[in-house]
Amino acid sequence: MKEMRLDKFLCQCLGISRKEAKDMIRKKQITVNGQQASRPEIKVFPGKDQVYCQEEALSYEEHHYLMLHKPQGVVSATKDASDKTVIDLIHENYKSGLFPVGRLDKDTEGLMLLTDDGELAHRLMAPKRHVPKSYYAEVAGRMGEAEVEAFSGHLDIGGGETAKPGILKILETSDERSKVIITISEGKFHQVKRMVSAVGSRVLYLKRVSIGPLELDEGLALGEYRELTKDEIDQIKEQRC
Ligand code: URA
Repeated sequence: MKEMRLDKFLCQCLGISRKEAKDMIRKKQITVNGQQASRPEIKVFPGKDQVYCQEEALSYEEHHYLMLHKPQGVVSATKDASDKTVIDLIHENYKSGLFPVGRLDKDTEGLMLLTDDGELAHRLMAPKRHVPKSYYAEVAGRMGEAEVEAFSGHLDIGGGETAKPGILKILETSDERSKVIITISEGKFHQVKRMVSAVGSRVLYLKRVSIGPLELDEGLALGEYRELTKDEIDQIKEQRC
């Protein structure tokens, strides 16, 4: 990693603007190797120099990795002529180069990973990797052993396609509505909805709760996001499926 200006380093680590970075330096909030930083243009070596913002050690990531709690009504795209996109929910300071990893339907909520790391996105989405994704769903009618069994086989989901075996776990069931967790390892168009319809039911509510080892942070309200922690980034990069 090459040396870089301190203000640029702070922008990248903290997702802040150049002006905010300069303000932090001016307010004496930054130290480099134990010395108070006095100028934004001093050079630091990411990974080598120890940069602290007050008590917090800053670790440099070349890319941004954000976890978004996607609300209904926004589309998983970077641009759209008529709808609000997931990128529209992100602050200007983070936006540059970010894109959503995979898709959720406009009416699906839940975990969406946004990054500017094309290589990671490609690995997570590659069909051969079979990264498992879990969804909390509320579906019409009663679910039982027959449906659990059907999900574990190759359901015919229409359009000449069959689904790879998935897992249906029933949390609650009644004649009106069932609450379930569905885990799949591929990402065909409307896959969960088509699997549920293949067993004669209908999705009433859908929310993605995990992608591989990454779980939705339930502390995030709908529309909120945060940077992945160092551990989460490592886990998702190590994902070998
Ligand atoms: N499957 C669906 O049907 N919709 C989604 O948004 C995600 C998976």
